[in-house]
Amino acid sequence: MHWQEIAGWFQWRSAQEEAVHSFPQGSCFVEVGAYLGRSLCSLGEVVEQSSKTFAVVGIDTCRGSGPEGPCQKDYHGAAVTQGGGTFAGALHRNILDCGYGDLITLIISDSVTASRLFRDKSVDWVHLDARHDYAGLTADIQAWLPKVKKGGWISGDDYDEIKWPEVVKAVRDLLPEAKAWSTWQWRWIIE
Ligand SMILES: C[S@@+](CC[C@H](N)C(=O)[O-])C[C@H]1O[C@@H](n2cnc3c(N)ncnc32)[C@H](O)[C@@H]1O
Repeated sequence: MHWQEIAGWFQWRSAQEEAVHSFPQGSCFVEVGAYLGRSLCSLGEVVEQSSKTFAVVGIDTCRGSGPEGPCQKDYHGAAVTQGGGTFAGALHRNILDCGYGDLITLIISDSVTASRLFRDKSVDWVHLDARHDYAGLTADIQAWLPKVKKGGWISGDDYDEIKWPEVVKAVRDLLPEAKAWSTWQWRWIIE
């Protein structure tokens, strides 16, 4: 299987390529919000092609986000139902089928709970693509910001004022110096 065959939402391949180019061997990348593994398996491919060794961690509750955004659409509901309340099996299967079972570490957990497993200043890049509501993204930024090293990146998906206004508001309120990045992404480089 190739990551492009996995259903999902992923538009920051150039950001992944920049990350493997910018960070040294041994760096730790965390992706929060994996769904069925589309972006995570692309990261696996980019890491593999870089010939550098990185720790790659994917985190997801595997229970979906529920209704969200201005349309209050439940984007993950069908996969949750199909898996009997969790799509963890489908996600792990996709990672294995793409050949990244040893490269990617999967944590089935709520984002904030999982962040407590990481020491402060231990992560080089955390990418947030879990909750898209103001309170949820605020909690994720507050939980993960202390985990990122100086010079590391905190970033996220759906930096789009029309489709995801609460994402834009949370980023502007908490990280006013964050910039638009890649395709509909935001990023702040920790000073
Ligand atoms: C937009 S999708 C991720 C899309 C994915 N990056 C891709 O490539 O298709 C958001 C994901 O965040 C997960 N999620 C929602 N709230 C979460 C939370 N509090 N902690 C961890 N994961 C969460 C959902 O289960 C869902 O799989």
